[in-house]
Amino acid sequence: MIRLQSVGVRYPGAVRPVLHDLSLDLHDGRFTVVIGESGCGKTTLLNLIAGFLAPSSGSVSIDSVPVSGPGAERGVVFQNDTLLPWQTVQENVAFGLRLAGQPLQQRHAKAREYLALTGLQDYADAAIWELSGGMRQRVSLARALAVDPRFLLLDEPLGALDALTREHMQEHLLQVWKTSGKGIFMITHSVEEALFLATDLVLLRARPGRVESVRQLEFGARFAAGEPARSIKSDPRFVGMREEILEQLLHPRQAARNDAGLEEAPA
Ligand SMILES: Nc1ncnc2c1ncn2[C@@H]1O[C@H](COP(=O)(O)OP(=O)(O)OP(=O)(O)O)[C@@H](O)[C@H]1O
Ligand SMILES: [Mg+2]
Repeated sequence: MIRLQSVGVRYPGAVRPVLHDLSLDLHDGRFTVVIGESGCGKTTLLNLIAGFLAPSSGSVSIDSVPVSGPGAERGVVFQNDTLLPWQTVQENVAFGLRLAGQPLQQRHAKAREYLALTGLQDYADAAIWELSGGMRQRVSLARALAVDPRFLLLDEPLGALDALTREHMQEHLLQVWKTSGKGIFMITHSVEEALFLATDLVLLRARPGRVESVRQLEFGARFAAGEPARSIKSDPRFVGMREEILEQLLHPRQAARNDAGLEEAPA
């Protein structure tokens, strides 16, 4: 388990901290999704977990061992694809394995396995520029999976996709999650996406960034068990929760007052 304990981050020269007293557990095999307004510190949080950034206070640990930098057990997919355009799809997916010193045949076999998992088995020899945006995202995902990390960290991996491709990719991610059994940590701006994918949905509040709530959900598990996506997304419980979270994001103070049973103060 990855544990963040009372973490604070203050960037040099900044007046106030970006994250303050933030505690969160990421469990193996679970799909943790973070949602929150732009600038509230989501990418900062991912950078802490990935080990690219050290906290100013508090601690980040894996199985009680402090995180001191990036590690192969945490695979990262960045928001903008960072594929190597001069290499083929298969070479891109095998990139991390080459760095790890695996022999050619072994790493190409592994690459093909993960291309199949992400539905790209027919594109192994294609050039990166021949792929659509959604296919590139899948290559990035296959590349992160190929080194067999324990956790996948995804920063808005579907943000640049059109609505239709995005729905397909959500289903794809759930299949990868179910098949691989990996722990996933993902950032998104879409409430519907967060609800559909998350087993643990974390709402971050801004200025300073902190955890407002963590909800345990089972919509994604229902999809993984065979229920059609549209039937889940039109379920009244799904729709009700979507509206509730949108309200919390759009009108944070009023939502908190409603939760506390307080009347709106007269103007
Ligand atoms: N390297 C940095 N140096 C100084 N300030 C930074 C740095 N990185 C981020 N910040 C500031 O920290 C705050 C949070 O940034 P972060 O990128 O974590 O937000 P975010 O929630 O991921 O936003 P978005 O949804 O727009 O991607 C912002 O105000 C940003 O300007
Ligand atoms: Mg961000």
